[in-house]
Amino acid sequence: MTTTPHNPTSGTKLGHADERIAKLAELFPGCISTTTDELGGQRQTVNLQHIRELLAGFVADEAPERYHLDWPGKRASLRLADKPTAATFRKCPDESVNHDTTNNLFIEGDNLDALKLLIPTHRDAVKLIYIDPPYNTGRDFVYSDTRVESQADYLARTQQVSETGEPLVTNPESAGRFHAQWLSLLLPRLVLARKLLRHDGAIAVSVDDNEVGRLTCLLDEVFGKDNRIVDFVWETKAGAKGVPPKKMVTQNHEYVLVYARDASAFRFKGRPRDLSAFANPDNDPRGPWKKDNMKSTVTTGKEFSITDPATDRSFRARWAFNEDSVAQMIKEGRVIFPDTDTGWPMQKSYLNEYQNKTIPLLSLLGSGFGGTAAGAKDIAATLGSRDLFSYPKPVKLLAYLVSQIATEPGDLVMDFFAGSGTLGEAVMNASAEDQIARRFVLVQLPEPLDINKPIHAAAAKFCDELGKPRTIAEIAKERIRRAGESVAPNLDTGFRVLKLTEETQDQ
Ligand SMILES: C[S@@+](CC[C@H](N)C(=O)[O-])C[C@H]1O[C@@H](n2cnc3c(N)ncnc32)[C@H](O)[C@@H]1O
Repeated sequence: MTTTPHNPTSGTKLGHADERIAKLAELFPGCISTTTDELGGQRQTVNLQHIRELLAGFVADEAPERYHLDWPGKRASLRLADKPTAATFRKCPDESVNHDTTNNLFIEGDNLDALKLLIPTHRDAVKLIYIDPPYNTGRDFVYSDTRVESQADYLARTQQVSETGEPLVTNPESAGRFHAQWLSLLLPRLVLARKLLRHDGAIAVSVDDNEVGRLTCLLDEVFGKDNRIVDFVWETKAGAKGVPPKKMVTQNHEYVLVYARDASAFRFKGRPRDLSAFANPDNDPRGPWKKDNMKSTVTTGKEFSITDPATDRSFRARWAFNEDSVAQMIKEGRVIFPDTDTGWPMQKSYLNEYQNKTIPLLSLLGSGFGGTAAGAKDIAATLGSRDLFSYPKPVKLLAYLVSQIATEPGDLVMDFFAGSGTLGEAVMNASAEDQIARRFVLVQLPEPLDINKPIHAAAAKFCDELGKPRTIAEIAKERIRRAGESVAPNLDTGFRVLKLTEETQDQ
């Protein structure tokens, strides 16, 4: 972006600029804007980028175009992922439970430092990373890599105002700085998180409509588009109470975006089948089986006939298998032909070859996980009050993700935006439920509680009653302490507390 000199009407030199701008306006009308300077005067500015775009292919130093997500501060935030940290872990046996024997960790501090410190010991080791980062709604941002930038600084850095604060564009945008800062918060953390994931592991990220579009682009970039597994939709409430919104649509869902480290190695456990349908009435040496449809469920594809070798009766349809496969199945006695006029051939599905049922995309909707209110009830069940943390996720929702993705004993599950510690409780509950003992790592900033907010006032009072510092990390630790006490004793319900030292990186 370039501008005309301050007073375009006086002096011949300045007059030349006016003439040139008028000529440019004739050739490239969309490239000229009128802005108001700090004295209230009007002046014209030229958007050189538009001219470059219109002359694409004829501009000498043009950078090649590519499809990518960009924002002011992206490069600096990416460099943060590589910058070594000066922080170290300090053991805190007094705040831990079973400090010397547990395999679970609670790390108190900034997750950027924590992730860097975990890389040497936990690289390629984590089966599931679940995160629920701040939703960037304007009230919830904790960003410690740089101080939150003022609107004036952002406009100057993105060259929307001059050094002296004069506007350089017609309508300076400043809302972008919130998106830019949010993306800059996540990018280096996601880059580091990917290094911690096992080759068959996955990351699941909670997000709402505010940032889902940008987050998808960011995850595509960090994990690769081909590793995008699914966007689950989670129903947060049944409907709106009170005065209806003007647009007459109620927002009652959020998303959990799942990306694999390597999609070809990743799978969900799936939903269990009803095994009571399997039997072996004909003593089939392949074991118990049940009848299943073998017609195709899609309406495209070739129709062909298959013939019952015993009766020569033919059946024409679109089948779920190709002709060679069906012929092989008939040869192996895996097809049961009907003995009625209206029946169709069915396949024998064997118990020992059976897969679990697939998970429908909208399975997090109305599946008994509860919405945001259920999360508050869960906190109340463990800590005695629902007024301790805003919008915790329901334990059941996270336990479901854990049981679907971390399916083997010893699997490591991590949450580095742990909030009230819901994931810790969810891991213990899932392990108690299916007796598959998993481990967890939680990371949470000792974010101070602002007693001027009603919910924080209750949380601060709770900490005071326990004689603890007033931070979100304290609420989370107390929560998983208490949750552990009510879970089966054969499980590892302890956790080792590590705190990051004060010497964090200078920004
Ligand atoms: C939306 S909440 C997570 C809620 C959590 N899922 C629950 O159910 O309680 C996000 C949390 O991330 C924490 N956080 C934000 N920035 C952080 C950082 N740089 N390092 C560690 N934690 C951070 C905030 O303090 C906040 O508690």
